Amino acid sequence: MVSLHEHLIDMDRKKRDLTPEEMLHVIFDYAAKIANERNLDRLLMLMADMGKEMVVADRCTVWLIDEQKKEIWTKVAHGVDEIRLPLGAGLVGLSLQLGKPIFIEDAYTNEEYRDVLANGALKTDKITGYRTKALMVVPFRNNDGEIIGAYQAVNKMTESEAFTEKDLEYLTLAASYSGKSLESAMLANEIEETQKEIIFTMGEIGESRSKETGNHVKRVAEYSYLIALQLGIPDEEADILRMASPMHDIGKVAIPDAVLKKPGKLTEEEFEIMKSHTTIGYNLLKNSKRRILKTAAIVAHQHHEKWNGKGYPQGLKGEDIHIYGRITAIADVFDALGSDRVYKKAWDLERILNLFKEERGQHFDPKVVDAFLECLPRLLEVRDKYSDANLESGVVPEH
Ligand code: C2E
Ligand code: SIN
Ligand code: SIN
Ligand code: SIN
Ligand code: FE
Ligand code: FE
Repeated sequence: MVSLHEHLIDMDRKKRDLTPEEMLHVIFDYAAKIANERNLDRLLMLMADMGKEMVVADRCTVWLIDEQKKEIWTKVAHGVDEIRLPLGAGLVGLSLQLGKPIFIEDAYTNEEYRDVLANGALKTDKITGYRTKALMVVPFRNNDGEIIGAYQAVNKMTESEAFTEKDLEYLTLAASYSGKSLESAMLANEIEETQKEIIFTMGEIGESRSKETGNHVKRVAEYSYLIALQLGIPDEEADILRMASPMHDIGKVAIPDAVLKKPGKLTEEEFEIMKSHTTIGYNLLKNSKRRILKTAAIVAHQHHEKWNGKGYPQGLKGEDIHIYGRITAIADVFDALGSDRVYKKAWDLERILNLFKEERGQHFDPKVVDAFLECLPRLLEVRDKYSDANLESGVVPEH
């Protein structure tokens, strides 16, 4: 074990540029990972890590152009939203517009880009306390030669504290190397975004019949994702669950209005009808071979099962309930209790948390309740961001 003291000394010590052997090692290492990565977010993070190691920067970000939204965007960490800026924004925007790299030795004394820096890096530094010194932005192109994004590296960690022509070459190499994977991942991403839209729309159809807002499905999706990550489920799998969980109530399309929209309590007979939304949803989805829809089938079927075996439709118990079902059960009830329904008013948070504590080990898997409580602050951020008030005012946040 390295002591904290030694660790601090180590962090203070200047790094050095990579030897050719180390450079090859980094490139081969990342090349293998990049070639196997089809998810665009994760690819951007891998590329950034590779660039950071190659040029010995403190930070490295890979930005992509979103032509439709006239924005640049990036993804910097798992479980954190993507960052978006207007297309012309900052040094990155300028570099993309000029189609050439930008080097800055010291952001605080640079004259040429003074205005851009004042509105970008220097402003951010004031808030964060970070000290930006050296900056390098390198645009990169797809196979057709069109500029599709840029590498941005911040602060050279060697003695010189400045990026060199060699660093520019390395970053350009990294970018052109990753270009092909990036392009096919962007295409796959486009297809996936389209699928997501279709799925949300389907989910909303289920919801709109019961007059809930489209934000309910978005919230349940994000809650399920965050709880899954908290449980240690890999990001890729958690992402599938995020895409699938909006369809948990799709079977409600087949429930008659008289039951679905009844303002008061349901009779036993009506509740029996209501319960069939689980098997109806399952039957709609079960024949698909697509991973997202298969996951959605499980979620639709099992989101009302209970840990103690007293749920429906199958009365499954404990770990016989798929983990996706146990996660969505919590996400769904958390959202249902916090929202107005035709038959009830929204509960306050304290009352909701009390219910989860009471039902820990009864309705809900205790392990999933614990994960839920651990990530509650992030769940509440999601609740704010996709609140129904936001929807009513017409401010629908970007997914
Ligand atoms: P929902 O309104 O989205 O509720 C989802 C789940 O959240 C419910 O599953 C239940 O586990 C929990 N939940 C919601 N409100 C309350 C509440 O006031 N107290 C408690 N303890 N738990 C609550 P459940 O019970 O299987 O119901 C499934 C769906 O059936 C509900 O979805 C809703 O659409 C409908 N439903 C249930 N009870 C009634 C009712 O009394 N009247 C009407 N009109 N619909 C109902
Ligand atoms: C810029 O380079 O100023 C825009 C990107 C950023 O804010 O880091
Ligand atoms: C709804 O009807 O909006 C949601 C019901 C559920 O989440 O089970
Ligand atoms: C289901 O019965 O809901 C799907 C089967 C499974 O648990 O994988
Ligand atoms: Fe349901
Ligand atoms: Fe629901």
